[in-house]
Formats: sequence, C-alpha cells, structure tokens
Amino acid sequence: MIPDLEDVFERQARRYDRPLGTWAELEKKAFGQAVGSNGYTILAEAEELAYLSEAKVAGPVLDLGTGRGWPGWLIAEHAERNLVAIDVPMAGLQHAREAFAARDLSLRTQVIAADGMALPFASETFSSVVHTDVFC
Ligand SMILES: C[S@@+](CC[C@H](N)C(=O)[O-])C[C@H]1O[C@@H](n2cnc3c(N)ncnc32)[C@H](O)[C@@H]1O
Repeated sequence: MIPDLEDVFERQARRYDRPLGTWAELEKKAFGQAVGSNGYTILAEAEELAYLSEAKVAGPVLDLGTGRGWPGWLIAEHAERNLVAIDVPMAGLQHAREAFAARDLSLRTQVIAADGMALPFASETFSSVVHTDVFC
C-alpha cells in the first residue's frame, strides 16, 4: 500500500523537530562526524553518489527528499556541483540549510520546499537526481 503523503511528511516533521543529541553522537562514532542522516545511507554510499554525480554531464544536482541535507551536502562538496535540495517539512529544510552553511556551501546550494510529485522545475534543469531512503 502506498502511504498517504501527508502522513509521511507529518511523521518526518516530528523526527526533524527532535533534538539530535544521541543520534549525532552515534554518527560521530560510526562516520567520524555527524552527517545529519535520517535514513540508512552510509558515508561510503554517499561518496559513491557524489562520484556518480560528478561523472555525469556538468549541471546541477537535485537531492529529492533531502531531509536534513544528507547526502546533499557531501555531493555538493565532493562533486563540486551546484545542488538543489527539496523536501516538504520545514524543520528538515532548516537543518539542511544549516548543514550547507556550516560547510561553506551556501553559494552552491539552494533549499526549496517542494513536493517531488509535482516538481516546480523545467525539464532538463538537472544533470542528475539523487534520492536516499525517500520511498520508506
Ligand atoms: C527517511 S527520510 C531520508 C532523508 C535523507 N534523504 C536521508 O537520507 O537522510 C525521507 C525524506 O523524503 C521526504 N519525501 C518523501 N516523499 C517526498 C516527496 N514526494 N517530495 C519531497 N520529499 C519527499 C520526506 O519528507 C523525508 O524527509
């Protein structure tokens, strides 16, 4: 059964409102840094996505369902690409904006509240699209 999208966004919004404390500590132990994950994408997989994004035709990358900006920030950083990060819950997007700013990526990234089911972009805007753990 396909879950109701409003339920998905409300559930995710509650997660993004929670303090990161213990989760961030776990990420530091696992990855050496707090990456801002809200799923199962590990550092090595994010690096692979960055590599694949870099290998594609030059152009911006869309991170659909960016959550707290993971793995978007790593892709923007490693692939040296402009990146547009979209999601719906504002609390997650605020985390994403902070994650990009903390890594000096504000000029190369845009954070936009948008539903991937109705993308507000012209076709062929992006050279690649990534999404991690969005269909869960
Ligand atoms: C499990 S989280 C993963 C977040 C992040 N990509 C990560 O790996 O940490 C799934 C995210 O996808 C977003 N999402 C689900 N359906 C979406 C849609 N139609 N448009 C935009 N975002 C969507 C949710 O709001 C949520 O933030």
